[in-house]
Amino acid sequence: MATDYLWIEGIPFHTTTIRDLRSLRDGFVVRDEDVITLSYPKSGTNWIKEIINLIHTRGDPSWVQSVVSWERSPWIETPEGLELIEKQKDPRFYTSHLPVQLFPKSLFTSKAKVIYILRNPRDVIISGYHFHKTLKITRNPSSLEEYFEWFLRGHVPFGSWFDHVGGWLQMRGKENFLFISYEELHQDIRASVEKISQFLGTKLSPEQLDSVLKNVTFQAMKDNNMSNFSLVPDIHIDHSKACFMRKGIAGDWKNQLTEAQSEAFDKVYQEKMAGLPPGLFPWE
Ligand code: A3P
Repeated sequence: MATDYLWIEGIPFHTTTIRDLRSLRDGFVVRDEDVITLSYPKSGTNWIKEIINLIHTRGDPSWVQSVVSWERSPWIETPEGLELIEKQKDPRFYTSHLPVQLFPKSLFTSKAKVIYILRNPRDVIISGYHFHKTLKITRNPSSLEEYFEWFLRGHVPFGSWFDHVGGWLQMRGKENFLFISYEELHQDIRASVEKISQFLGTKLSPEQLDSVLKNVTFQAMKDNNMSNFSLVPDIHIDHSKACFMRKGIAGDWKNQLTEAQSEAFDKVYQEKMAGLPPGLFPWE
C-alpha cells in the first residue's frame, strides 16, 4: 500500500521515523566508545555495517549469521532502533541516515568513531528507485523518470543528497570521522577493510582479515538472511517488487539514465557541489 512522507523541518522521512527528532538531537548522549555508520540511503550502508560487525568479531561470522543487521547496528532515527541502542553495552554500534543538522548534537563533542559512506549519486538514484518501489513506509515512485525528478528536488526520504553529503563533509579532517566510498570498496575491498579496521583500532590477523572478506562479498551477503533484508516484515516491504541485494555494482546508472537525464543531473551536480574542492570523489 502506497503512503506519503513524514515531513520534519522541511525534510521528507519514512513514516517509521521518530516524530520528535528534535528531542533526539538535543537529548541523546553519544558515547566515546560508540561506532556509528552514517550515509545517505542506498550508498552501501549495509555493506559497511557488515564490515564493521565482522571486524568487531575478528572475522567470526556467527554474529552476522544469527542476528539481523538492523539489530546488530540499529537505526537511531526509529523508535525500535533507539530502544535497542539504549540497551546495548559498549561498544555500541548504530546507524543513521539523518542529515547533520538533525543528528544528536553530543556527537560533535564526543570521540565516537564515525564512518560515512558515499556513493556516486547517479547510482544512488538507480538503487533508490528500485528500493523505493518496494517500501510501504514511504511514497512510491511510479517510474524512474518520476523518482529522478523527486531526487533532484530532494523530495525523497532523508532529503537532498547534495545537502546530506555537503553537510556531513564539513566534518572531514576530524580524526574520529572516516569518509569512504562505495567505489573504493569495489576497487580494493582488502585495502578498504584494512583501512576501516585500522580506523577502529582493531588489528586483524591475515586469517581474520580473509574471513571478513569472505563474508562481505555481494554473494555472501545476498545468501545471508540476516543481511539480505528478506526478514524485514511484510508491513514495511513488498518483497515481490524488488530485491534489496539488487546488483551491487558501480556504474549501473550508465545503462539506466537517458542522455538527457544524465546531462540534467550533471548541471545540477555542478551547481550544488561548486563549493567543494575538485577531485574529492572517485566518480569525478
Ligand atoms: P544496488 O541497488 O545498486 O544493487 P544501502 O545499504 O545504503 O541501502 O545500499 C544498498 C546498495 O548496496 C544496493 O545497491 C546493494 O546491492 C549494495 N550492496 C549491499 N551489500 C553489498 C556488497 N556486499 N557488495 C556490493 N554491493 C552491496
